[in-house]
Amino acid sequence: MVLCQLELPIETVAHTLALCAQASIPVILDPAPAAPLPDAVFHQIAWFTPNETEAAFYLGEKSSPENSAQRLLDKGLQGVVLKLGAEGSYVAIRGKAARVKSFPVQAIDSVGAGDCFNCAFAVALLEGKDPWAAARFASAAAAISVTRHGAQASMPSRAEIDAFIAKHR
Ligand SMILES: Nc1ncnc2c1ncn2[C@@H]1O[C@H](COP(=O)(O)OP(=O)(O)OP(=O)(O)O)[C@@H](O)[C@H]1O
Ligand SMILES: [Mg+2]
Repeated sequence: MVLCQLELPIETVAHTLALCAQASIPVILDPAPAAPLPDAVFHQIAWFTPNETEAAFYLGEKSSPENSAQRLLDKGLQGVVLKLGAEGSYVAIRGKAARVKSFPVQAIDSVGAGDCFNCAFAVALLEGKDPWAAARFASAAAAISVTRHGAQASMPSRAEIDAFIAKHR
């Protein structure tokens, strides 16, 4: 699985996605910072993971998670995860969609929460979890990260995530 975001030039991202499509490698694209994407790119994305502001950028308006996810899927994506901050996330594929709750924590610094979520989501999918279970694992990782300062420095270890989930069962 390849995880991309948009801090690289669009040409580089588009080329990466084309190579991944050829090699049948699934791609998670976090469209951050939001920037216009060629139509073809949407057909090469396994998981598109915008936050609410980014989702509104691609749709031209703010809308409910249900409606936003459906309209994003209609662009040709295979799956969408709307990241909703403390409100959790909304995970949709064609024909199935559901909200995934966040974990209640005392947040002190949300920097890096999105990246933490994406990476943990990728790990859980590759371990064979279904998308909603993967989003729950990712939510736990991201919840830990917002209780700590920094971006990379706030990322939890696997053992910390597993212990956190066990405690919140
Ligand atoms: N205050 C919080 N409490 C618990 N979980 C949180 C909180 N903030 C974020 N999260 C978790 O982190 C995930 C990603 O956060 P968010 O929705 O803010 O993404 P983002 O805007 O892409 O973040 P970033 O600022 O890192 O780019 C959320 O879906 C949620 O699971
Ligand atoms: Mg983000």
